[in-house]
Amino acid sequence: MAGLTSPYWLLRVACRTPPGDQVDVHPFNLPPVQALQRGLALTAPVTFLVGENGSGKSTILEALAVACGFNPEGGSVNLRFSTRASHSALCSHLAVTRNGSKPRTGFFLRAESFYNVISAIEELDAEPAGAPPLMDSYTGGRGGTLHERSHGESFWDLFMHRCGPQGLYLLDEPESALSPQRQLAVICRIQALAQERSQFIIATHSPLLLAYPGARILLLDGRGITETAYDDLPLVRLYRGMLADPQKRLRTMLAAMAEPDPGQA
Ligand SMILES: Nc1ncnc2c1ncn2[C@@H]1O[C@H](COP(=O)(O)OP(=O)(O)OP(=O)(O)O)[C@@H](O)[C@H]1O
Ligand SMILES: [Mg+2]
Repeated sequence: MAGLTSPYWLLRVACRTPPGDQVDVHPFNLPPVQALQRGLALTAPVTFLVGENGSGKSTILEALAVACGFNPEGGSVNLRFSTRASHSALCSHLAVTRNGSKPRTGFFLRAESFYNVISAIEELDAEPAGAPPLMDSYTGGRGGTLHERSHGESFWDLFMHRCGPQGLYLLDEPESALSPQRQLAVICRIQALAQERSQFIIATHSPLLLAYPGARILLLDGRGITETAYDDLPLVRLYRGMLADPQKRLRTMLAAMAEPDPGQA
């Protein structure tokens, strides 16, 4: 019964073998999804999913979120709205091992649909409820709505006010609205929440977020899912090379592009 004493809400996720006629179709044809059939331990306060565009990060994060009871388009477990059903069949094939207790709170952030989450909360608050507005937990009781905040400010409010201790947070590219300074501030917030027994699973392209000390970094690519050290990540190497000498790096890249393709001669 070791799971009952684990500080992590999610311990493991595995994908059951899909029906034979689905093996070669999306999402079961993605190498990281196939790798999930061997099971993946999630025992870390912060787990990052990293990889090229189209590698499968959102597909896996979204399926995990739905399997954990979150709305497929984002939000808390209690939020139910749908603008377009776009989640894959993967969620119904996932077996998620939990630690036996429920997180006190949680949130599934899909960066591209956070605007819709805010609108859904506004609509719920417009209905007579006899309870404080839900938006208060996002604004910290400041009043108003997150639609009156900038893109990055609304993400920041989510982290500062809506995210609390003992929570389970699945975040898809949270950096997309945040300045580099705010990303570093978010690392401080994640650290504070992790120390209060929150668990984060984050899909990201941010070399800043990925630097979170002690994070487990999972690289998704054509080989499947590989735990990878920060310094060995392709994106970290790319940023280092670029920032060391941006002009030289771009000159080399553009010159290579300008060279005639021998195959076209
Ligand atoms: N409904 C669908 N039908 C077929 N293929 C799909 C469908 N939805 C997504 N895909 C494909 O699945 C692959 C993985 O997509 P996914 O959104 O998980 O990538 P990602 O790693 O999150 O990429 P990004 O960094 O761009 O967000 C992509 O090649 C995508 O085109
Ligand atoms: Mg994605």
